[in-house]
Amino acid sequence: MIFRNFKMISNVIFGRGCFNQLDEILEPKRTAKDSWMVFVIDDVFQGKELEQRIPLHDKDMLLWVNVDDEPKTSYVDLLTEKVKAYSTTLPSGVIGIGGGSSMDLAKAVSLMLTNPGSSQEYQGWDLIKNPAVYHAAVPTLSGTGAEVSRTTVLTGPEKKLGMNSDYTVFDQVVLDPELIRDVPHDQQFYTGMDCYIHCVESLEGTYLNQFSKSYGEKAIELCREVFLDDTAEDKDDKLMMASFFGGMSIAYSQVGACHALSYGLSYILGTHHGIGCSIVFDYLEEFYPEGVKEFRQMAERHKIKLPRNLTKDLTDEQMETMITVALGLAPLWENCLGPDWQTIMTRDKARSLFKRM
Ligand SMILES: NC(=O)c1ccc[n+]([C@@H]2O[C@H](COP(=O)([O-])OP(=O)(O)OC[C@H]3O[C@@H](n4cnc5c(N)ncnc54)[C@H](O)[C@@H]3O)[C@@H](O)[C@H]2O)c1
Ligand SMILES: [Fe+2]
Repeated sequence: MIFRNFKMISNVIFGRGCFNQLDEILEPKRTAKDSWMVFVIDDVFQGKELEQRIPLHDKDMLLWVNVDDEPKTSYVDLLTEKVKAYSTTLPSGVIGIGGGSSMDLAKAVSLMLTNPGSSQEYQGWDLIKNPAVYHAAVPTLSGTGAEVSRTTVLTGPEKKLGMNSDYTVFDQVVLDPELIRDVPHDQQFYTGMDCYIHCVESLEGTYLNQFSKSYGEKAIELCREVFLDDTAEDKDDKLMMASFFGGMSIAYSQVGACHALSYGLSYILGTHHGIGCSIVFDYLEEFYPEGVKEFRQMAERHKIKLPRNLTKDLTDEQMETMITVALGLAPLWENCLGPDWQTIMTRDKARSLFKRM
């Protein structure tokens, strides 16, 4: 048995208002006289209070990013070029402020500043050769676990796959629950369900071990308080920690059927991750009976109306590609169904599930 030697983020700060300490945290990284930082920030904050609070120094770069579409390799390459064109020296740090998409863009840019070529060449496991520029995350939306994971999920010309590597992991994470307070209700639910589904897939998976179980059980308990308990206090704090722990849980196990199918859906239809996972999960009763039941209670309580009939206008070719993308994620299926997964999750079975969505 070979055990994975797991890379973790080096520094974490947690607490309401801790974003105010960001300047102090970055100070030791501004070593040279001409040191500068790039703040990669979701353009939803343009003109908002948070923009004024960014600890921007004279030479720093403010890089607004748009996440209407989830991160593509072409967008990462474009952003990297912009950063390179900004100065003759590399930045001392890349700070991602936003949800999973913006954090992933920050991770990807920090990696591509020190690794030659296009980001699409690095979609896969441990293909990155050189350490990234120092990179930090400030989540403003909780659930994906992108703040703790060793991947940055990118859609490329050939596949939707992350740049998985130890170098991808953030050096610093700033967890300030005040920053997720104003997320629109539906978005908070969908991204929160990403976390809930991570927990179910991890806890019900064949790869489960005590490391993943310990984090997963705590995370799912927090999700229940946030989404099912009207009397629970400090929900933003709880959701932020659920995301973190849910991410830790899957880091040492794996996600499962819902993520595999939702990758297929999003590759063809561009469906965003949280909502895509929610749509798919609703059809996975036979694999996760208890989880799906509880998920429906949460959706009902939060008056969420899931989109339906997404796949009805697909061509046969699109449907086949969707199936190929989903079934290509062997470890996810193995985690869900065991080593003989291919006898259960056939192309016909996947097609019948997609056709219902
Ligand atoms: N790296 C990983 O381990 C990992 C894991 C899961 C998902 N992901 C990726 O994360 C992305 C999904 O992330 P997400 O669900 O956090 O959503 P997101 O980052 O795509 O953002 C969703 C929407 O919420 C808005 N938003 C973000 N913060 C806000 C705030 N505080 N107030 C108001 N609006 C706000 C954004 O502008 C956007 O419109 C996908 O690209 C997915 O592939 C990565
Ligand atoms: Fe996810």
